[in-house]
Amino acid sequence: MSESNSKCPISFTVVSPHGTIATASNPELHTRQDINDKQLNQNERLLISSVFPFQRSFPSEPPIEYNRLRAEQPIYRVALMNGDQVWLITRFGDVCLVLGDDEHFSKVQNHSNFSKQSYQDIIDTDEEHASLLNMDPTKHIIYREIIENELSIDRIKEYEPRMKNIVDDLLNELINQNPPIDFVSQFAIKVPSFIIYDLLGINKIDHEFLISRNRINNKLDEAQTANKELLDYINRLIANKKQTPGSDIISRLIIEQLRPGRINEKELVSIILLLLQGANEPIKNLICLGIISLLQNHEQLDQLRENLSSIDAVVEEILRYHTGLSFITHRLTMKDVKINGQIIKTGETLFALNASANRDEQVFTDSDRFDIFRPPQHHLSFGYGTHQCIAMHLVRAQLKTVFIIIFQRLPNLKLARSIDDIQFINDHNKDIGVQKMLVTW
Ligand code: HEM
Repeated sequence: MSESNSKCPISFTVVSPHGTIATASNPELHTRQDINDKQLNQNERLLISSVFPFQRSFPSEPPIEYNRLRAEQPIYRVALMNGDQVWLITRFGDVCLVLGDDEHFSKVQNHSNFSKQSYQDIIDTDEEHASLLNMDPTKHIIYREIIENELSIDRIKEYEPRMKNIVDDLLNELINQNPPIDFVSQFAIKVPSFIIYDLLGINKIDHEFLISRNRINNKLDEAQTANKELLDYINRLIANKKQTPGSDIISRLIIEQLRPGRINEKELVSIILLLLQGANEPIKNLICLGIISLLQNHEQLDQLRENLSSIDAVVEEILRYHTGLSFITHRLTMKDVKINGQIIKTGETLFALNASANRDEQVFTDSDRFDIFRPPQHHLSFGYGTHQCIAMHLVRAQLKTVFIIIFQRLPNLKLARSIDDIQFINDHNKDIGVQKMLVTW
């Protein structure tokens, strides 16, 4: 039995007795701060749900259970919908510990006892199209190097002027319509999609088709059909690019990796699929949630408008506060290990909850408050360790570009209706996000 020993910026040891948790739905409560102030103080206490993912008290906030678990049961055993038992890791230090430890924890989901959280995992674990998200060293290191270069900080810096043009054009299209306009379908979803299509060298006439394929994700059979159509499309795209390569990621992968035999065609398809599918939803959601948080915090928004150079801090706070992707950081235990006093046995699955870690009050003062002025502090929105998001420079650049352009060009942007009319993603099995929000200016 060994204690996990990977390097971790912070670690904690407190363990308290079992506890109960407050949860209630109330549309007037808009932030976790409101929920905490108004509900926890009223002592409306229910038992912690025994099924994960937990319901969200307000659709734009992580489940309130995370707060109580961090304080009282930081390593918590819970069932998934299919009955599988998994461990939840909720504190910042412990989440780092798990994500930074490739010796005890695996990301290969094809292991028979890796508990599946959703059908998305079934698609990801398709043997033929194994993705980076489903690999351990050494295969993982080789694959990661192939893509890393394409999304490096220097490449993204070079690409920024082109990114700015894409965002400007999309904003022109938005402004040319009569408000109120649905910000999600008319702008936020198009930004990350058009940018990744451009990077991959995909012709403009195919953009709408690809957006429609990526949006189908409600039912397993529809998702599988959409996935198959996407695969067929990618195969045709590769065939075309082999004939007439351009100066884009796919062409470079064909010339530098496929032709010399460093990867085979199936591996190339997997890489393209991952880049296409990873891009859209979380960035769209962060653009919308970021706008909402800034509109809700007028003083902070006013200061940002006066001093756009604080944009880096704003983007980091949006990432911390809303996290973006909160279910993909799960792992299978490969060797017995003890975390924060709890033994996790070989073969057990755990979720290292970055959305909970990002609200850890031991690390972030007043952690449930959206505050663009908080001191710089590493957050876990992009994960940690060898699987840390490969596209983080791209994501940061996009968010920066979008917020600067919007607040320069549309200083009067506001919600057209009340915040209660925003259609948030209300399915607690999915990440926090926005489906529809009407804006005007
Ligand atoms: C707001 C947007 C995004 C967020 C919050 C995000 C978050 C994450 C997180 C938390 C991980 C770590 C997973 C783990 O440890 O198990 C990850 C990995 C990854 N992300 Fe992102 N991601 C975002 C956008 C993207 C985009 C746009 C792409 C591709 C174009 C992408 C590609 C990847 C890849 C390939 C990995 C796996 C890296 C590896 O295993 O080495 N992500 N991402």
